[in-house]
Amino acid sequence: MPDYKLVIEGGRELRGETYVSGGKNTSLAVIPATLLAEHPCQLDNLPDIEDVRALVQILRHLGAGVEWRPDQKQMQVDPAKLRTNTVPFRLSQKMRASYYLMGALLGRYGYARVGYPGGCNLGSRPIDQHLKGFRALGAQIREENGMVVLEGKLRGAKINFDMVTVGGTINVMLAACRAEGDTVLTNCAREPHIVDTANFLNRIGARIRGAGTDTIRIRGMSKLNGGGYTVIPDQIETGTLMIAAAATRGDVTLHGCIPTHMEALTAKLLEMGVLVTSRDDIITVQLRQGHRAIRLSTQEYPGFPTDLQQPMSALLTRALGTSEVIENIFDSRFKHLDEMRKMGAKSVINGRVAYIEGVPELHGAPVTAPDLRGGAALVIAGLMARGITEIYNSETIARGYEHLENKLNALGGSIRREPVASDVYGYANSL
Ligand code: EPZ
Repeated sequence: MPDYKLVIEGGRELRGETYVSGGKNTSLAVIPATLLAEHPCQLDNLPDIEDVRALVQILRHLGAGVEWRPDQKQMQVDPAKLRTNTVPFRLSQKMRASYYLMGALLGRYGYARVGYPGGCNLGSRPIDQHLKGFRALGAQIREENGMVVLEGKLRGAKINFDMVTVGGTINVMLAACRAEGDTVLTNCAREPHIVDTANFLNRIGARIRGAGTDTIRIRGMSKLNGGGYTVIPDQIETGTLMIAAAATRGDVTLHGCIPTHMEALTAKLLEMGVLVTSRDDIITVQLRQGHRAIRLSTQEYPGFPTDLQQPMSALLTRALGTSEVIENIFDSRFKHLDEMRKMGAKSVINGRVAYIEGVPELHGAPVTAPDLRGGAALVIAGLMARGITEIYNSETIARGYEHLENKLNALGGSIRREPVASDVYGYANSL
């Protein structure tokens, strides 16, 4: 995708209705999980995002038959004839979720050679818990020229994660599905996309119980069939749109979401004075007056998601009073606040704590998206600001949001893409 910037004319209220796309982090787990099957799988409600595009490239490189129709949100994967178990670094580093190829290929073939994953630069992001789980299942692991080589016949095991890890929980679950015997995973992450991935695997013949709790039990199966599955709506896109609605003092109704996944955000928005109502798969967000500062602390699900901390802190730049935001999951997830200072926001960062003093107004400025959710936070800041905001490195936003600017424009925003001359550099492409 050629480099472009987003140009936002701020100060317009968002009003109207839109829909939420399929879950990014669910899709990025379920697509590699299809490789565990013997027969074709059909996935529905997949988002049209760059990370899915990168994953399709990886699956095709491996030899899987992939037919993706983004306009129909549908993908068919035929995993029958893989020609290689190697995911080269040039492909693995395009995204974080390439680590799922380790679990999927190891589970299916007992051998995988995968480059280290890329992903947002949020500080140190080791995968030691993934590797610990694979080892406990019987894999021998070595590093060869920067590639992780995993090999061995897998047997069920009891594995307690040292910390709660979303990727680690899913990855070890993938491999254990085709191990011999039973596996029990404890201290698991409980995010909705872990449940969704387990539901998909069960649909194609796996036997997984307990996903969504901190203990997951897996009976290894000698083979998994194929089948169809519809992925859940994106929790973080839902939240980003909810926050954008509040930030512009708008009135927006979102369709196709799961309100119970949004409880931590909804509670905080209500505390700030934002009106949030929901029924069935619909959420409405309205804000008429100013909103209050809050104290926010990111936690694993069902706590406040780290992925919404950045969009939420954009909203806090205009709250009445000073907010305290504690980032408990990642070392370095406040770079967007440095950028927002150029727009008149006031914040002080002390390690994993940010103090954000609300200001009456933000003004437009050229800024750089530091990472995916940081980019979304800058879009929200741009919508709130007086004048024109230009967001460089905006390709990073398209990695995880389906046509974000189109959705916001349909609600009354004014955002356009403009090509960027090749001599203008933002952050290194770090996602
Ligand atoms: C997943 O990242 C998501 N990525 C992230 O989404 C999300 O922010 C994160 O989970 C937390 O919800 C995908 O699903 C592709 P973790 P992941 O393992 O798996 C430490 C987005 O914007 N840790 O739960 O990398 C780790 O360093 C993104 O959509 C280890 O120390 O997150 C971190 O501090 C970005 N060793 C914490 O645990 C390990 O082996 C949680 O990481 C694994 C993790």
